[in-house]
Amino acid sequence: MVARLLGLAFLFLPISLVTCTTHVVQTNQSWEVVYRDTYVYGVVNKAVILECGSTVPDIYIWSFTKPGTEAIKAVVWDLGKGPRIQKLAETLGKLTVISNSAALSIEKLPLAAHGLFTCQAIYDTEQEPIVYYYYVHLTVRVPVSKPYLLMSDVSPVEGSTMWMRCNLENGTGPVQYVWQHETRTGNVSTIAQGDSSVINVTNVNRNHTGWYRCVASNAVNSESSNRLWLDTIFGPDIPQIDVTPYSMTERGYSALERETVSLLCQAQSNPASQYVWFYNNSQVYSGPQFTITKILRMHTGDYACLAQNTYLNTRSKKTISLTVYCECDL
Ligand SMILES: *[C@@H]1O[C@H](CO)[C@@H](O)[C@H](O)[C@H]1NC(C)=O
Ligand SMILES: *[C@@H]1O[C@H](CO)[C@@H](O)[C@H](O)[C@H]1NC(C)=O
Ligand SMILES: *[C@@H]1O[C@H](CO)[C@@H](O)[C@H](O)[C@H]1NC(C)=O
Ligand SMILES: *[C@@H]1O[C@H](CO)[C@@H](O)[C@H](O)[C@H]1NC(C)=O
Ligand SMILES: *[C@@H]1O[C@H](CO)[C@@H](O)[C@H](O)[C@H]1NC(C)=O
Ligand SMILES: *[C@@H]1O[C@H](CO)[C@@H](O)[C@H](O)[C@H]1NC(C)=O
Repeated sequence: MVARLLGLAFLFLPISLVTCTTHVVQTNQSWEVVYRDTYVYGVVNKAVILECGSTVPDIYIWSFTKPGTEAIKAVVWDLGKGPRIQKLAETLGKLTVISNSAALSIEKLPLAAHGLFTCQAIYDTEQEPIVYYYYVHLTVRVPVSKPYLLMSDVSPVEGSTMWMRCNLENGTGPVQYVWQHETRTGNVSTIAQGDSSVINVTNVNRNHTGWYRCVASNAVNSESSNRLWLDTIFGPDIPQIDVTPYSMTERGYSALERETVSLLCQAQSNPASQYVWFYNNSQVYSGPQFTITKILRMHTGDYACLAQNTYLNTRSKKTISLTVYCECDL
């Protein structure tokens, strides 16, 4: 008899992917009931198999205890004439007993099936019947839904503080969040990760500009949000002025009479700078590039470029001095 039971145990290795332990029914000379605990992790709306030991008992009763309650309620029993499913089973999903076994199969796991299943099994051996209590602790997990990313400000001003939140509708905790940044050039990097669904960005700068997404993960799955563009508003920085043709003296830039001189102004800004040129404090031109064809000695003086960020209403200015020489001076 011992050999027969052991043999069966090896033939009926559990098929379920979620059951954590396997048992071998052995004869036990004592009268004591044998208690066994297993932990099964199922996913809502997915299938799960709950094993009642690894060999078919002669008699068994499956019961269910809802968390937070003490009552043990019958789900299905079989006293040798086939399984008798109780009404309670209807609340536990599409529940069936797998043929030629005492294992329960639940096809579409509802949240309500989260709880303690107990299979009381009796093996009628030649010497003595053995009684087993299999406690199957079923945890029903919910996959994370697709998160959506929220920013306190999608166009923050450089130097300000903002937050980003990864909103999740469903998902059994603990949930881990990963925050990704993708630059204009397509470089992707992880900027933060952890169990917080909110991150603060203090002292926002222009390098924070780009696409953001968050990825939420739990024990079941991982989902990524759509990406959201962050556009840092800044500037204008101090302008840079390029003079062509380039010629410097100790008094500043210099040019020869009748040359064509071009002054190009550039100041980093978002939105892009608007430019105004001044000659000796009088406005002479609007636009980044001021060109003087056939420059004369009378054009000697101070040239200033004013860059403006019309959105922030901020401005910055740079002045150069330009001396025009006659070829006859040389
Ligand atoms: C048999 O019973 C004893 C307690 O009397 C227990 O310690 C032992 O684990 C049992 N054997 C099996 C195989 O369960
Ligand atoms: C969250 O779960 C509820 C209940 O199962 C479902 O109705 C809803 O569609 C889920 N939401 C998302 C975003 O998956
Ligand atoms: C992209 O990231 C890699 C590694 O972090 C770095 O070496 C590279 O310079 C980056 N490229 C750009 C265009 O930022
Ligand atoms: C973000 O800042 C708020 C206050 O502005 C604070 O309550 C919160 O704890 C901060 N969160 C993190 C993750 O630093
Ligand atoms: C932005 O990134 C560039 C290149 O990595 C770096 O030189 C610059 O200092 C950064 N600017 C800020 C405001 O962090
Ligand atoms: C502009 O200023 C320069 C130097 O201050 C001076 O030499 C020049 O005459 C001025 N030009 C005009 C048109 O005022």
